[in-house]
Amino acid sequence: MKFLVAGGAGFIGSAFIRMLLGSPPAGSSRECAVLNLDKLTYAGNPENLAPIASDPRYRFVHGDICDAKLVETLIAEARPDAIVNFAAESHVDRSILSPAPVFETNLRGTFTLLEAARLDKTLHKTPRFLHVSTDEVYGSIDPPHDADENYPLRASSPYSASKAGSDLLALSYFTTYKMPVLVTRASNNYGPYQFPEKLIPLMISNAFEDKPLPIYGDGMQIRDWLYVDDHCRAILAVIERGREGQVYNIGGSRALPNVEVVRKILSATGKPESLMTTVTDRPGHDRRYALSSEKLMRETGWAAQVPFEEGLRETIEWYRANPGWIARVKSGEYQSYYQSNYANR
Ligand code: NAD
Ligand code: DAU
Repeated sequence: MKFLVAGGAGFIGSAFIRMLLGSPPAGSSRECAVLNLDKLTYAGNPENLAPIASDPRYRFVHGDICDAKLVETLIAEARPDAIVNFAAESHVDRSILSPAPVFETNLRGTFTLLEAARLDKTLHKTPRFLHVSTDEVYGSIDPPHDADENYPLRASSPYSASKAGSDLLALSYFTTYKMPVLVTRASNNYGPYQFPEKLIPLMISNAFEDKPLPIYGDGMQIRDWLYVDDHCRAILAVIERGREGQVYNIGGSRALPNVEVVRKILSATGKPESLMTTVTDRPGHDRRYALSSEKLMRETGWAAQVPFEEGLRETIEWYRANPGWIARVKSGEYQSYYQSNYANR
């Protein structure tokens, strides 16, 4: 199976590519090839793909999903069986401080990919188009309910509004043009290689350095934690077995308040709770995310495999074992990694 992966140098996209090209191939016995199109924004780090970078089945193209000509050319050349769109400005706080790039990539970029796939005349068959969306499109979910795929969309931040828009746009291509589109809405991911601006890697790296751990507001906001490899297995299951035109929630089945997550990190790193520091809350902060993944489980047979405590332990161990990765991300050195390793090949 040939994949065009957009945004494959980020946290989840790189985990998906490592999974596809890992040995033995995950989920399916089919051979595969991967073309990764990534703009390498601050969140894109080719070092995340170092384990598979020299695999002959892998090709990296440094480019923007908003570049229609480039996307059309790549689809014509690669003739993918599936397009998976991870590319996004993914951080809520950045979207609040600076919404413009969010709308450019998340909305116009998704539109550009969809149009290129729709209009391509070189393909024998239009590829399956999986748009990676988020539980944030539902906004804050009132207890005791877990949102299923029919829960109303009530996005709160520029980030989540842009994801809701792009997710509906993708679905409209199924309804209107009969394009084989699938949408997944996942809950909070965590795991190795996550950029240390997100809660779990930020708290781990601050704890290692005995720096304050900033808790927004009262810290009682609830997130449903999903190990990144479980998310990637779900995406593959939806590509292989999902029904076109459908939305699939991917939840972690482990909804926890932020303070509890931070306490677990402090306990696992042997650091004192006095490092926790209350800071001003995020504007429009969603109080609770909680998903029902019943449809995904029923239709594809997927189930989360990694319990939160185990995934958190492995994640902390990965950050402990890879101080160079964090140091290069924090110093900005990772942004020259592509230039020095690949650009002239
Ligand atoms: P990330 O920020 O780590 O990675 C995003 C990647 O997209 C980066 O490699 C970046 O360089 C690339 N990119 C950004 N703009 C681009 C453009 N215009 N053209 C090409 N590439 C571009 O994000 P992530 O956490 O890996 O999230 C991946 C996807 O999953 C996003 O769509 C996000 O909305 C969604 N999602 C994330 C989570 C989570 O908890 N992280 C949960 C649910 C859904
Ligand atoms: O739910 C899925 C979403 O999860 C994805 O769509 C987003 O791409 C991803 O960034 C994530 O969004 P969140 O805003 O939930 O994740 P973040 O890691 O930024 O924050 C998690 C919770 O922790 C949230 O309630 C805010 C809080 N927080 C976060 C940071 C960075 C803190 O209290 N302190 C912090 O320093």
